[in-house]
Amino acid sequence: MTPPTRTQLGVFFILLCPVNIIGLWWAVGSPLVMDPNSICRKTKWLAGKQAELCQSQPEIINEVIKGAKLGVRECHYQFRFRRWNCTSHNKYFGKVLQQDIRETAFVYAITAAGVTHAVTQACSMGNLLQCGCEATRSRAAPRPATSTSTEAVKWEWGGCGDDVEFGYEKSKQFMDGRRKKGKSDIRTLLDLHNNEAGRLAVRNYMRTECKCHGLSGSCTLRTCWRKMPHFREVGNRLLESFNGASKVMGGNDGKTLIPVGWNIKPPDKQDLIYSAESPDFCLPNRKTGSVGTRGRACNSTAPDTSGCDLLCCDRGYRDETVVYQENCLCRFHWCCMVQCKECSVRKQLSLCL
Ligand SMILES: *[C@@H]1O[C@H](CO)[C@@H](O)[C@H](O)[C@H]1NC(C)=O
Ligand SMILES: *[C@@H]1O[C@H](CO)[C@@H](O)[C@H](O)[C@H]1NC(C)=O
Repeated sequence: MTPPTRTQLGVFFILLCPVNIIGLWWAVGSPLVMDPNSICRKTKWLAGKQAELCQSQPEIINEVIKGAKLGVRECHYQFRFRRWNCTSHNKYFGKVLQQDIRETAFVYAITAAGVTHAVTQACSMGNLLQCGCEATRSRAAPRPATSTSTEAVKWEWGGCGDDVEFGYEKSKQFMDGRRKKGKSDIRTLLDLHNNEAGRLAVRNYMRTECKCHGLSGSCTLRTCWRKMPHFREVGNRLLESFNGASKVMGGNDGKTLIPVGWNIKPPDKQDLIYSAESPDFCLPNRKTGSVGTRGRACNSTAPDTSGCDLLCCDRGYRDETVVYQENCLCRFHWCCMVQCKECSVRKQLSLCL
């Protein structure tokens, strides 16, 4: 990957206005492999608050970048069998981000979720000075998951709970960016809503983990702490939201979003929203940011989006046999060596025409 030049960054920045840091990362791809210092130097383009954060909290920036990467990886995974597979190729990706389509909504949400997750994780690991384990003093005692047993087990908060509020706030600071004073356009409203939906996909699904204490399995005391959901779970949930995303349009006052269609309930905070229909992503198109699906591997028997009919847009597919070498018949020799043979594996692939 070649490092972006200044002009490239500048151009993307202008294109993505009103922009936040996400535009910068996604548009050029490579900020994801940059160190915080160079990111902060590039943030000359970033206005006020974000530039300030960048200068004053470089360690947080580090975690924010990790969070963005987490989001990118999850986006690739969740969309691996779809026409638009979250390809973060510069030129095309920027175009996708400029539209108000479902895919854009997902990208914003998964990135905001990734940042929330990574920053919170860093707190729990003790990697940041500004935060640590969740403060639990003021919270009511946890309730037993099952109250079938009559024995009174004492419960306490303990261990290291994830301080998701901290991650949530940081994600908000970095992702929600600057707003135009006094007025907001539809675009901004959409982005802010989807960012929030992403953060909530983490914050609203905290789980409680407990551990028993006491002699030989007797559980005289239980300590419990709260953990974030696994990020895969967050991705799955956001993909569901993507599938059920709500279409909205701007109200006359330019400050509200109203659902489109009859009898449609207004989207709630956790729903993803969009205002424009997605292109079909079948053929390459610079305008829409579509790279097309030619050459993509498909599944000739699957009825869903990974099936050749849908993925190849009815253009058809060809079968190809690929042969590759793989380690096989591995044996463990005491101690400590693993010996494998090389086998050639044949695999049947269907590729879109
Ligand atoms: C996504 O699609 C592009 C373009 O068709 C392809 O080059 C790339 O390998 C795909 N990525 C994955 C992870 O399938
Ligand atoms: C192809 O799709 C079928 C039906 O959904 C599924 O059973 C099979 O595992 C898929 N094959 C691959 C290689 O994913």
